[in-house]
Amino acid sequence: MKKQILTLILSVLPTFAFAAGGAHIDSAPINISDMESVKRGAKHFVNYCFSCHEASYMRFNRIARDTGMTDAEVREELIFTTNEKGVPTKVGSLMKVAMTEEYARNAFGGPVPDLTLTARSRGADWIYTYLRSFYIDPYRPTGMNNLLFPDVSMPHVLSSLQGMQKAVYKTETRQGVEVEYVDHLELAQAGSMTAEEYDAFVADLVNFMVYLGEPVQNERRSLGIKVLIFLAIFFVLAYMLKKEYWKDVH
Ligand code: HEC
Repeated sequence: MKKQILTLILSVLPTFAFAAGGAHIDSAPINISDMESVKRGAKHFVNYCFSCHEASYMRFNRIARDTGMTDAEVREELIFTTNEKGVPTKVGSLMKVAMTEEYARNAFGGPVPDLTLTARSRGADWIYTYLRSFYIDPYRPTGMNNLLFPDVSMPHVLSSLQGMQKAVYKTETRQGVEVEYVDHLELAQAGSMTAEEYDAFVADLVNFMVYLGEPVQNERRSLGIKVLIFLAIFFVLAYMLKKEYWKDVH
């Protein structure tokens, strides 16, 4: 029996090793209770991402309510779109974009994913790493590739801020064959931000996307703590009551 269990563990191990391989993922330095950061991230999102990606399960005024913005601020800082008649998008509207699927197919070879729930499907760390992993690749249509998402069809829309990175290759002999792989990325052309500023910019953006995936999460956490405090107090009361009821029996 022992032998069988050991065999089972050993046969499963390589699967884990394989799953753990691949590109390195950095941990995103985010804090979801920092609403100022979420607010900055929302502005970055509408300025740099919203032209292609929608967040179609979110409304502008929900972000306003949660981050403490007024309707006027939302109109000024988050809404740059109008309807066909030129009337500005309403503050209560869903965050949808006008791009049709056919246009996206022609431009990018496929649909542009909705980003409302991406922080939940991919995880914050993945998005944080992805937005910092673009590098120059002349063989790609946009001239850029991505270490985490090879052959991605999204252009490096933040290159004016980050600058452009190039891949530094290394060679290694694996089973007698010499293979070349990307060791790391380094800045080849500077952007308008330093590396630290760019990382902070992306962290705010990711923080916003984590908020987007579950807008009630701060409320859920603080409510959870209150419920646990209530249960702790209630436990003492219930215990005292039990003692009172049973004191004549024992
Ligand atoms: C010019 C259009 C365009 C802009 C602007 C844009 N993206 Fe993208 N993005 C795409 C396309 C197209 C894909 C699909 C890539 C693929 O499948 O190869 C994509 C994919 C992604 C993905 C991967 C989603 C998944 O789960 O596969 C993330 C995350 C993402 N974009 C984030 C962003 C963020 C954040 C911004 C703003 C800084 C942004 N994008 C701006 C076009 C765009």
